Order: sequence, then structure tokens, then C-alpha cells
Amino acid sequence: MAGGADQLFQVSDLNAYYGKSHILHGVSFDVARGEVISLLGRNGSGRSTTLKAIMGLVMPAAGSIRLQGRELAGRRPFLVCRSGIGYVPEEREIFTNLTVDENLRLGVQPAVAGAPVWTIEQMFDYFPRLKERRNTMAGSLSGGEQQMLTMCRALLGNPLLMLIDEPTEGLAPKIVAAVGDMIRDIHRRGVAVILVEQKLTIALKVSSRVCVMGHGQIVFEGTPGDLAAHPTLLDEWLAV
Ligand SMILES: Nc1ncnc2c1ncn2[C@@H]1O[C@H](COP(=O)(O)OP(=O)(O)O)[C@@H](O)[C@H]1O
Ligand SMILES: [Mg+2]
Repeated sequence: MAGGADQLFQVSDLNAYYGKSHILHGVSFDVARGEVISLLGRNGSGRSTTLKAIMGLVMPAAGSIRLQGRELAGRRPFLVCRSGIGYVPEEREIFTNLTVDENLRLGVQPAVAGAPVWTIEQMFDYFPRLKERRNTMAGSLSGGEQQMLTMCRALLGNPLLMLIDEPTEGLAPKIVAAVGDMIRDIHRRGVAVILVEQKLTIALKVSSRVCVMGHGQIVFEGTPGDLAAHPTLLDEWLAV
């Protein structure tokens, strides 16, 4: 897909290093408005680094990152965030010595043009457990609850695009299902998602396209159906 009217986000020829280690070798993909795509791959294939490079947490050495045509490569993380990209990192990042409610309120920022607006009450509808614990210090939440809090806080930034890194890692099945529902709702309201997810069943169910990464490059791009039709791909790039 090249620059159509529904084009939202485009990464092209992204290269990134940690020190002298060349990690991303020309990563390119795009996301349409409101589209959910998954970045798949084995551990160490470069999925998290791709998200960090988009957020400006890892400085891209080369390449371009565009949201609605606007270049973001090399921008500081808070500017990337403010331009309409929400980020849920692999490591749950919450303020442990603030309450659940305070953490959520800190996530709120004005919606950029065209982005739907979310409320704290809606977050409590997704995850009633957070409502029960709204006045509790976030540091005393379980790992799963902290993960929900991180997702909700990012969504309250009213983004056009959410980057979500392994949201269901270590969660109980019931909460995994709630996270799946939330991602489908995000999609329904027109927010695009780049999902990094180890659980293939969820990734294939919620996304319209998948990109498989290997050794810091995209080695396959297609629909979940295309991926299922290439069992050798699964063996080569996804099996553990
Ligand atoms: N902070 C870091 N410093 C040095 N190397 C890193 C760092 N983070 C990740 N790497 C390396 O970069 C490569 C890609 O990692 P990552 O993007 O985290 O992969 P994935 O998310 O697909 O598991 C791996 O070889 C990993 O060891
Ligand atoms: Mg990772």
C-alpha cells in the first residue's frame, strides 16, 4: 500500500543500533487509518526495538517514520506521544507511589484531530478491577493489574495509533480476554494499533495484517490467512 487516502503511518528503511550493534536493518511497513497490524517474530528479532525507535526512545540511525505525512524520526518521546501515538512498553511503566486514579489522570492529553476521546469511566468498564482499586497505590497492584493500568493510561492520551508491546505476557486467561476485547474496541473506534504479541491466536484474531520480523528485518508481510498458508514461515521465523 503506498500513500493512499487512508494511509496513517509509514515506517521506511528504519535502521537502529544499540552502541555498535546494528539491530534494525531497513525496517519498512505501513498502517492504514484504524488498522490493527501485528509485529511477530522470535525473541530478539527486533520487535520492541522497532517500537522504541518509533517512540524516539532509541534514536533511529537512518530511515523515516511518518504519521499523517509528518516526519517523526529523531523527535523526542514526548513529542512523538503528543503527535498522536500511544505506547504500552513491555516493562509496565507506572508511577508506583501514585494511586491508580492519579496514574490514569496523568495519561490524559488532548486528542489530536480525528482521534476518538476516551474517559476514565470507560477504562473502568473494561477493567472493573481498576475501579475497585482506584484509590490504591499503583505499586501494590498485581503484575496483571499494572499491565491494565499501563494500557488504559496510554489510551487516555487519545491517540490515533497505539503501539502495544506484549500486553498479555504473564496475564491470567480472563484478563487476556479483556485485553483482546479492549484492542477490538480500540479498532472499532478507529484507532490504529501495532501489536507485538507472542500469543499467535490473539494476534491473528485481532489483526488484518501481520509483519514477521527476523534478525531486524521484515521477512514476511501479509494477512493472517496468508501466514496460515505458509507453514514453513511459522517454522522458520516463529516456532520457538
Ligand atoms: N538495551 C539494549 N542494549 C543492547 N542490546 C539490546 C538492548 N535491547 C535489545 N537488545 C538486542 O537487540 C536485539 C533485538 O531485541 P528486541 O527488539 O528487544 O527483540 P524482540 O522485542 O523482538 O524480542 C536482540 O538481539 C537484543 O539482545
Ligand atoms: Mg520485545
